[in-house]
Amino acid sequence: MEIIRTISWMKQISREARAKNRVIGLVPTMGALHPGHFSLIRAAQTDCSPVVVSIFVNPKQFGPSEDFQKYPRSFEADRGALENLGVDYLFAPTPEEMYPPDFRTVVAVSGLSDKLEGRSRPGHFHGVTTVVLKLLEIVQPGFAYFGRKDAQQARIIRQMSLDLNLDAQIVVRPILRESDGLALSSRNVYLQGDDRRAATALHRSLEAVRQEIAAAQRDVLRLLAVLRRVLDAEPAIALDYAEIVDAETLEPVLNLRGSCLILLAAKLGKTRLIDNALVEQEGDTFRVTI
Ligand code: PAJ
Repeated sequence: MEIIRTISWMKQISREARAKNRVIGLVPTMGALHPGHFSLIRAAQTDCSPVVVSIFVNPKQFGPSEDFQKYPRSFEADRGALENLGVDYLFAPTPEEMYPPDFRTVVAVSGLSDKLEGRSRPGHFHGVTTVVLKLLEIVQPGFAYFGRKDAQQARIIRQMSLDLNLDAQIVVRPILRESDGLALSSRNVYLQGDDRRAATALHRSLEAVRQEIAAAQRDVLRLLAVLRRVLDAEPAIALDYAEIVDAETLEPVLNLRGSCLILLAAKLGKTRLIDNALVEQEGDTFRVTI
């Protein structure tokens, strides 16, 4: 595996691969890699060659009081894991390489970016879309892989790709979870003892809603009440939001219809966690994917 530190070299590698009609797969990450990331990489390896994984802790997507300095960094372990997976290129630019002092551009997908996560983390998605557009321009992949773990992020990136006629196909993959249901996340290392146990309530609340939907409940307020009951039973959890929204517009719905997302965010101490489930209508029934 070759480690690439500069944009010009990454572009050169990409140009050469595309000249040979090879289809590049890109998996953008912020490192502290876990099996959720690995599942995206394996999907990329099935569809594409070569596969580029980027590791860049993007300062622009962290708020001033967020965990940019503290964000887990484990470059050597990540590098080893990527070698073992047979990844072709690791693109790991420095912040100065990505954002020289005179950098001025902000990429903003309006509407979708200021609700839900965007309301709690102002500017967060502008940082995400700015860096992801840069990565797509630098690497020029045929396919780029994202996790449904960050469902709003994936929706916003798909909109950006559509609006800006980007060539890369945006692929969204399922959520990988621990055996007790907790969605894998680089931030899970912050969870200790009781908080780690309490964190499973996010997944349990989604399971409770799944059961209600299976029992033919379609009323969103009632579904959210079921969800809150599970979360309220864990005093360590401070719910930020729980919403059921249309999967396309991310606007709240009153009754289940079409494709919806059940999105939630909560804090355990200082650690902020998000989780979600996808609800898809199939005739008269609804399939819930957690
Ligand atoms: P990061 O949190 O490192 O996640 C990188 C990718 O892995 C994202 O697409 C995310 O949705 C996916 N992912 C994380 N946990 C997952 C899980 N449990 N199952 C499946 N996929 C999972 O998301 C980012 O980085 C950044 O915002 C980034 C897109 C790299 C831009 O900086």
